[in-house]
Amino acid sequence: MKRKIEEFFMPWLREQKQYISPHIELAWQEPELRRMMSNENPHEPSPKVLEAINKYARIANRYPDQGLVVRSKIAEINGLDGPENVLLGNGTSEVYDMIWRSLIQPGEEVIQHTPCFGIYKLRCAVVGGKLVSVPMRYEDDQLLFDPDAIIQAITPKTKVIVIANPNNPTGNFMPPEAFVRIAETGVPFVIDEAYIEYAGQEMSQVGLIKRYKNVMVTMTLSKAYGLAGLRFGYLLADKDVIDLIAPTLIPWNVGTIPMWAALAALDDEESMRNKVDFNNHQVKYIEESLSNIPGLTIFHSYGNYILFDGQKAGKKGNDMVEFARKKGLIFRPQPEMYGSDGFFRLTIGLEEENRMAVEAIKEFITS
Ligand SMILES: Cc1ncc(COP(=O)(O)O)c(C=O)c1O
Repeated sequence: MKRKIEEFFMPWLREQKQYISPHIELAWQEPELRRMMSNENPHEPSPKVLEAINKYARIANRYPDQGLVVRSKIAEINGLDGPENVLLGNGTSEVYDMIWRSLIQPGEEVIQHTPCFGIYKLRCAVVGGKLVSVPMRYEDDQLLFDPDAIIQAITPKTKVIVIANPNNPTGNFMPPEAFVRIAETGVPFVIDEAYIEYAGQEMSQVGLIKRYKNVMVTMTLSKAYGLAGLRFGYLLADKDVIDLIAPTLIPWNVGTIPMWAALAALDDEESMRNKVDFNNHQVKYIEESLSNIPGLTIFHSYGNYILFDGQKAGKKGNDMVEFARKKGLIFRPQPEMYGSDGFFRLTIGLEEENRMAVEAIKEFITS
């Protein structure tokens, strides 16, 4: 008797579905809505980046090379030896897929610190890994990293620990000494620095790579550089670690246009700095404008997003998101956590959008 088609497939994949971001789908379907939900940069690419896109679009008939020029530039920016320390991905989301595929067999464990970015979980599910979520501590209106709990969660099956620095959605940094403690365990330790440029490269833990072979750092051009739609991210690690992950690289995963546009963006530091300054002023404006609203907890952010909890004001995050939508803004709902259904997150937009967001939050929370 013939076997059913499902039986040929990995058993853990049968329970999974394609991930589709409903907020991004909505934003493309209704372009008049203001996109304050996916930590995109509100500014269009700089003229230098547009020039590179145009130039390389004309040779889009050609395959890209392995990216030695842009990898050398990335190594230089991050104080590493050279392109052998850099692996390119179609966004860091793909880099996570490569790391998990090269480390995890079915049943082996990934430790993440929640709440956090969703890709770690999604890619873990695809390789049949077991996700171990260690919650941050919610104390005195702050969400705090808990390195002791992370270290205690390590078992013989742990293959990787991942921490975002600063974390999304909480917006804060883990203290540097905690990174050292986790690195000392010897377990592969990935530090996700997608938003590092907003606080400055000096906050990066990239220096640990030279001291600990198990430390890896990921970065992206989707945030401060404002190129989310181009898909360009990268992994920084010891050469031997890069060599162990590199066989998972799908040849030509990063196209000619994103590769050279990325180089132009990395060379155009002034444009990135301007975007960062704008963002940081707007974070300050939003946080200050909402600081006196009774019952609204604001999580100070070092990224391009801010997390709020409206529970003490008796408000639900989902209702806030719906209210904002009626005002023409897409905010990001958050699942219930720590016994509160009041969480929601917004991404920094253009000046007018941030003003609209402040008004919407004030109106909803005080109503
Ligand atoms: C912590 C974190 N890492 C990585 C990414 C995604 O990066 P990419 O666009 O490079 O896949 C995001 C995007 O929201 C993020 O929040």
